[in-house]
Formats: sequence, C-alpha cells, structure tokens
Amino acid sequence: MSIYRYCKNLLAIGIAFASVTAQAQTTVLTVKADKPGAAIQPAMWGIFFEDINFAADGGIYAELVKNRSFEFYEPMMGWKEQRDGGATGRVLVLNQSATMPSNPRYAHFVWDASQGSYTLANEGFRGIGIKKDMQYNFSLWAKAPEGDVKLKVELLAANGTPIGGTDVTISGNDWKRHTASFTASATEPKGKLLITFQGKGTLDGDMISLFPNDTWKNRPGGLRADLIQLLADLKPGFVRFPGGCIVEGHELDTRYQWKKTVGNVESRELIVNRWNTEFKHRPAPDYYQSFGVGFFEYFQLAEDIGAEPLPIINCGMACQFNTSEVVPLDQLDPYLQDALDLIEFANGGTDTKWGKLRADMGHPAPFNLKLLGVGNEQWGPQYVERYIVFASAIKAKYPAVKIVTSAGPSPDGPLFEYLNPVLRSLNVDFIDEHYYRSPEWFLKNASRYDTYDRKGPKIFAGEYAAHTEKKVQPENKNNWESALAEAAFMTGLERNADIVQMASYAPLFAHVEGWQWTPDLIWFDNLRSFGTPNYYVQKLFSLNKGTNVLSILAGNETVAGKNGLYASAVVDNNTKEVIIKVVNTSDKEQAVDIQIPGVKKASAAGTITVLKSTNLESVNTLDNPFNIKPAEQAVSLKGKAIKSTLPPASVTLIKVKAL
Ligand code: AHR
Repeated sequence: MSIYRYCKNLLAIGIAFASVTAQAQTTVLTVKADKPGAAIQPAMWGIFFEDINFAADGGIYAELVKNRSFEFYEPMMGWKEQRDGGATGRVLVLNQSATMPSNPRYAHFVWDASQGSYTLANEGFRGIGIKKDMQYNFSLWAKAPEGDVKLKVELLAANGTPIGGTDVTISGNDWKRHTASFTASATEPKGKLLITFQGKGTLDGDMISLFPNDTWKNRPGGLRADLIQLLADLKPGFVRFPGGCIVEGHELDTRYQWKKTVGNVESRELIVNRWNTEFKHRPAPDYYQSFGVGFFEYFQLAEDIGAEPLPIINCGMACQFNTSEVVPLDQLDPYLQDALDLIEFANGGTDTKWGKLRADMGHPAPFNLKLLGVGNEQWGPQYVERYIVFASAIKAKYPAVKIVTSAGPSPDGPLFEYLNPVLRSLNVDFIDEHYYRSPEWFLKNASRYDTYDRKGPKIFAGEYAAHTEKKVQPENKNNWESALAEAAFMTGLERNADIVQMASYAPLFAHVEGWQWTPDLIWFDNLRSFGTPNYYVQKLFSLNKGTNVLSILAGNETVAGKNGLYASAVVDNNTKEVIIKVVNTSDKEQAVDIQIPGVKKASAAGTITVLKSTNLESVNTLDNPFNIKPAEQAVSLKGKAIKSTLPPASVTLIKVKAL
C-alpha cells in the first residue's frame, strides 16, 4: 500500500493516532515484576451474548427451519405452498390457545395429489446451509386424523436439485413426534427444505424441525459448533446473557421472561424479537425468538466453556429508548419472584421446584451462579427505586450473590452523572458501564479508571466497541482502526483490574445478511464464520490475563498515550510468566527497551505475538478470515531487558518465563 494511502488512513481518524517524529528515539519501559499488584479476577475478560443480528435463531441455535411452529405474526412466514400438475392442497392454521397457550398454533393440511404434487417449502434463515456428507435430523409433531400419511422430505440446492432426503410416515390421531435422518450429498449455502405430501390425505403438523448432526458437543437440537468453538477459543471468564435491550423488551409484554424459555422446546412461548422493528434502515420482519436457546442452554454454554454465568433480569422496566413502561412499585412481586426463582433454578437443590426442573432438563448439579444483573441499560430515579427493591430481596435470601447494576447507556452525560453517584452512595457491588464511542474516545479514555475511587463499587465494562462512523450506523466497520483503539483502552482496563473486574465487547455475533447492528465481534453466514480483528484483540487479552497486575512505567508515568503508546503488564503466578502488552497507535515504528529489573533469571525464552496492519481500514471477511491475525516469534530476555521494535499501528504481546 502506498504511503499516501497509509497517511490518508491515519489522517482519517483525526487526532487519534499520534505522529511520532523521531524514529530513532527509544522508549524505556520499566516493569516491576517483583512487586505484583492487584489480583486479576479469573472472570476479567468475558463475553456478552444477546439475540441481536440473528445471533440465536439463525445463529448459534442450529435449527434450520424458520417459523417451525407457525407462531410468527404471519403464520406462514418462511413457508411456501406449491400445487403442480392438477394437485390440490390447502393449509388451515388452527389456534388452540385455550389448551396450549405456550404454543397455540398448528397447521392442518388437506390435499389430493393423486395427480401432480402438493409441496411445502421452508426457506430457512436467509437460506439453509447444507454440508456434503452431513447427517440431517428431521422431526415434526403430527397426527393423521384420517389414516396413514406419507411425506417426502428433501433438501434442495438453490437451483432446485435435490441433495438428500427421506420418507416419513405419520399414523394415528394422537400428537406424536416423528423423526427421520438422512445424509446430504452436496454442500449448499442457500438450500431449502421441501416437504411433498403424497397421495391424498389430511395431516396436523407442528414444530417442523431440521438440525445438522454436528452440533456443539453433538447435543441433539443443540448449538452451531463452529460459532460456539469461536467463543470457547476466547476462554471467556463469564457469559453475560440474554441481553441487552432484549431483557427489557420494546414494551413489558415482550420483555425476556426466563421461565418461558426452559422446559421442553415445544412448550417455550415464541415472541417477537425486539430488534425485528428497531431500525428502519435494517428491518427484520422475520426476526422472532423461539427460545430454542433458553436459560438452561445459556447456563450450560457458560459451563461448557468454563465461564461464570451472568444472567440479567428485567427489573420491571421496558426499554427506555422505546416505550419506557415501568411496573408500579407495589406490583413488582412477580418480577422479584422471577429473580429469586432464577437463582433457585441455577443453584437450588433438586428437591426445590426450580432446581428440580434443572435436574429434569439434565443437569442435577448446580450451575453455581454468583452474579446477577438487575436491569440492563436502565436509568433515572425509577431505576434506583426498583434496584433497591430487588437488591434487598435478593441479598436477604442470597447474600453471596453479587448484583450488577446499570449505569445507563453512556459512560458520561446527564444520565450517567445522576446514576453514578447515587449507585456509589448505595454501595452497590458492580456498576455496568457501556461505551459505544469513537476510536478517539477509546484512546482518550485509556486512563479513565486511573483516577477512580479504589474503595467504591467494582466496574463491569459490560458493553463496548469502537464505532468508526457514528453510533449504530450501518457504515461502522470492524476494521483495524477500531480494534487498535479497543486494545489501547483495554490496557487501561487491565492496569486498573483492582476495580475493573469484568469486561465484554458488544454485540457478539452478526449474520452477514441478518444483522441490525454493527460492529460485532464475530460474523457468520449459513456455513462459515470468522473472528474480526476486534476478536483477536479480545483473545489476546483473555488468553493472557495473568494473575496479578504489574506496574509498567515510562519514567514515572503510566503508558497511556504519549507518542501513541499504551501499555499494561501482568504476571501469571501459575506459569511464572511476565506478560506485557504494548499498543503502538502511531504511524511509525517505535523502539522500546523493556526493563524487568525484578526478574530472578537473567535470560529466559519467551514469545512475542503481534497483531498489526498498515491499513487502518483492513477487515477480516468470510473470504479472507485471517487477513488480520496474530503472528508469533521468539524473544529472549537479555540482561533483564527486552529490546523490541513495535510496528506502526500494532498490538504487541511479550511473554517471558522470568520468575
Ligand atoms: O449491544 C447492543 C445494544 O446496545 C444492547 O442491547 C443494549 O444494551 C445497548 O444499547
């Protein structure tokens, strides 16, 4: 790339990236390895999962059929009937809400295909991703009121070619789950499912479902393995779930109610996804929540990947960006009960009502919930009033559970200025600060926590991402500019790990065709997925979190922006390693001389890992997923020092076995 292009990129972000004049100048950084500071919490770097951008249905939930139970507002959305060659056929949608309120609708088919064919096709979530030689598991709930019925079930490629299928016979007039498996003969990113009704007959059908066999941990009806593997690879300290604004709902009626997301999948009540209508510029009329991924699955996911579960519950407030509905204080009891019951579901003995449900779902052992969020991005006195009610009830019954409180949607401004001191005066456990800001903001705020009250509440940086254009604009990119700024900011979080005890990027996932919000950490289509540069920054910190903070100084100053350099250091008492992270946001190479006077051994092997790009606009894509990825090289301590040259616009991690 030309120098002009490079400079243009740097200039494009204005004051953000310092221009270093003298390349020859060496910055001496001193790491006090013999004076370990605050302990770094094992949960420090975590993930935040919300069902936005098709993250759950159409994303981690491996179900391939959209609107499988005909419960979308338009009951046949995602489905298409076709009659050919003189066949007749029709579908009637029945609503049995009086007897089955959680899954009221089913489809009643009547057809005569003695000649021609009557078919029903499902389009999947922006198509169905199909893999050659993979086993697919089809199921439906059905009854045949007028005698045996035969269905031909097929997967079709985008051009209409059948690429696998099977026959299913339905007999009897009782609702039963029927299953059949088959193997696909070709790979296809945009397939569809076709059901052909044979002969003549009638059928009642519901929960028409198709899963690939290769789910995460091979669990039937489980999660998409490649996406979960990307999460597991981060070795996250916690999983915050299920949101986000989704907890609040556009209005209280569509808030997240965890009790409706557990038990048999066919009894989980589908609701609209609040991101369905949120952005006019990214409408998603087919975005609903089937809750195939519900609270049991979230707890199980956290356990699978070695993370602490951090559920967020609704505190009687709908989204304040939308309806702002609140529940009167004297009517909060059901909401409170949901919170208390959730703790019982996670931790209670199998002799308790909710602990028993957990056991019945296959997990008799507790999930060891220690953290609970009360509300998402709430603000104002109405939040404080509700928080007080929740905190006193939760602490009275479960004093060991730490509560995470909202600090509102922004890290400054009137909403924050009101809430922050009030929460501090209430001595809350954790304050959850959110920042969706420019890269410049992240650079300037790398020292935000250096001056925070050390005795006050702990900080949870629960949602953050550098937005390269404007907050929540479709032009925002997961480019190197944003990832570099986040890395610089994260050195500030790490340096202040005594008070900033948890942090998570947001949002986590986005389907390349189904997204509403950008940027996002991991992108995917129906078959492929990739980590953004921001993902590799998160991974670098998470996999190298250490056990204690070490001081790293240039002279007497923290390394938080001078010459465009940002740095933090930790020690890992388990591996006996000193780990140093240095971010060079300038447009020049910079020489650093890292002195580690406290180390006992004068020379020990280690590694340098570098993430870099000379183009701040560089991104990873489905076709070029590793455009920006870490590269490793050997390093050795020389006389208790490491001399290194930091490339322009780079994140460098230096790890030495040195204790
Ligand atoms: O991460 C996307 C949204 O941003 C979350 O739902 C909400 O908490 C915040 O406004």
